[in-house]
Amino acid sequence: MAAALRGALWGCLLLCVSGIVPKPQNARINSVNFRSILLWDPPGVYKGNVSYTVQSKSNFPKQSFNNVTTNLNVTECDVSSLSVYGTYVLRVRAEWEDEHSDWAVVKFKPMADTVIGPPSVNVKSESGTLHVDFTGPAADHEHEKWSLKQYYGSWNYRILYWKKGSNKKIFHPTGSVWN
Ligand SMILES: *[C@@H]1O[C@H](CO)[C@@H](O)[C@H](O)[C@H]1NC(C)=O
Ligand SMILES: *[C@@H]1O[C@H](CO)[C@@H](O)[C@H](O)[C@H]1NC(C)=O
Ligand SMILES: *[C@@H]1O[C@H](CO)[C@@H](O)[C@H](O)[C@H]1NC(C)=O
Repeated sequence: MAAALRGALWGCLLLCVSGIVPKPQNARINSVNFRSILLWDPPGVYKGNVSYTVQSKSNFPKQSFNNVTTNLNVTECDVSSLSVYGTYVLRVRAEWEDEHSDWAVVKFKPMADTVIGPPSVNVKSESGTLHVDFTGPAADHEHEKWSLKQYYGSWNYRILYWKKGSNKKIFHPTGSVWN
């Protein structure tokens, strides 16, 4: 009985202590063409100036958690430098003086999760012929802009076009093309 009570009290103490700083809310990844940002909302009603630590861990190949950044004073962190071929667990916690919140956790697999942006398209009509040039999309996480195709292997473009005011769309598949 006494032991159970002590247990319950101890549990409450632990909860109360670890709950001093609420954890960041709504942690999520925004990734387009491999430019990848971890975003979160500040912990609910907390009044002090909290800072954040972001850590990442690769699941494949297996690693332990590493600091991506510490002492961060904004609610986003660029994680584009992680290898696009990896599988990761990212986590962020709020810190205030010597206290910290629990971790908010997000899984991230860049190849699968990044949104592939549209190619850029240039159309020219010349004596009844339509010329359509398109390039990209390109990876947006390094100084050199590599085509995303370098990462994904082959892909095709699909062109749909129609006469202005008409509902009849013409579909034009292209073969496997470069860039
Ligand atoms: C939060 O930081 C700002 C700017 O550094 C400071 O003016 C303010 O007093 C701080 N607030 C608290 C509650 O510490
Ligand atoms: C992360 O940074 C904190 C604060 O600088 C440090 O105490 C901790 O040991 C670091 N953790 C790792 C895994 O490097
Ligand atoms: C946030 O951190 C950056 C870089 O560490 C610093 O330049 C900036 O002044 C800080 N902003 C606030 C509001 O403390």
